[in-house]
Amino acid sequence: MTTSPRNIAFIGAGNMTQSIVGGMVKSGYPSDKIYVSNPSPEKLEKLKSSLNVHTSQDNQVVAEAADVIVLSVKPQLMADVCAALKKQVSNLSEKLIVTIAAGIRIEKYRQYLGDDIRMIRVMPNTPSLVGKGMSGLVADDRVSEADKAFITEAFDGVGATLWVADEDQLDILGAVAGSGPAYFFEFMASLQKAATALGFDRDKARQMVQQTALGAAEMAIASELELEELRKQVTSKGGSTAKGIEVYQAADIDDISGQAVKAAVQRNQEMAKLF
Ligand SMILES: NC(=O)c1ccc[n+]([C@@H]2O[C@H](COP(=O)([O-])OP(=O)(O)OC[C@H]3O[C@@H](n4cnc5c(N)ncnc54)[C@H](OP(=O)(O)O)[C@@H]3O)[C@@H](O)[C@H]2O)c1
Repeated sequence: MTTSPRNIAFIGAGNMTQSIVGGMVKSGYPSDKIYVSNPSPEKLEKLKSSLNVHTSQDNQVVAEAADVIVLSVKPQLMADVCAALKKQVSNLSEKLIVTIAAGIRIEKYRQYLGDDIRMIRVMPNTPSLVGKGMSGLVADDRVSEADKAFITEAFDGVGATLWVADEDQLDILGAVAGSGPAYFFEFMASLQKAATALGFDRDKARQMVQQTALGAAEMAIASELELEELRKQVTSKGGSTAKGIEVYQAADIDDISGQAVKAAVQRNQEMAKLF
């Protein structure tokens, strides 16, 4: 890491925390500056033995030791977890608060933790669990550039990071990148079904679909060409790919994606009202 290490505490030792902490340590972050709490001991024992981080079953212990607190519990537990932290940890306003929970707005955390907190919201996605995540980030105006650089590096350990201007944009990013893996799986499964319908067994169909998805994603990342241009480059006029693409375009794939993203944004906004 190029930013100075700070004491960082993760509240909740679930899948996401394990991936982020693993990514940080792999990128050279000193494990003795990482603290993790969780009610049940098994996940803590695993983290302690594999990464040698500090662990506790008491959120207060890790929160007090930290300069940065990452809230990594399920959204429905957030109000209770924050209420306890507010009661137990005296100097929350001096710490950078980061949350990875979906849906809960910064304004709500101010109600939970106090008006004087400084806060970053991160929306990671599931491929973070394999180090290929796409995390969206948004900060309130009290967060410094140094805070942002620190958190960017932490989440770069599980993939790529993208800062957005406000929480409305984070909802859109959630509808594209957060929900996106499901869209891609749906599309991949439909191609797999198409191949099996024509006689391939499921395993072979799956192999050709997933390797093609990986190859296409890597080509897109490696290339500076527009995605549309890349598509044209593998579509010879009058060839077989052109015939397949005609079918997708006739079904108006742009309109389908537009509707899907709008529906997911709307749901993100509805869910934010539940908290
Ligand atoms: N996984 C994803 O792809 C993803 C993507 C975007 C955002 N997120 C968000 O990231 C957060 C964590 O997700 P996750 O997938 O890591 O969930 P998870 O695997 O269920 O982990 C949540 C952890 O919180 C612990 N916990 C429960 N009550 C607690 C308390 N009072 N204090 C401290 N820890 C407590 C749980 O412990 P026990 O198991 O011992 O009860 C569990 O280990 C969620 O808010 C989720 O919405 C996840």
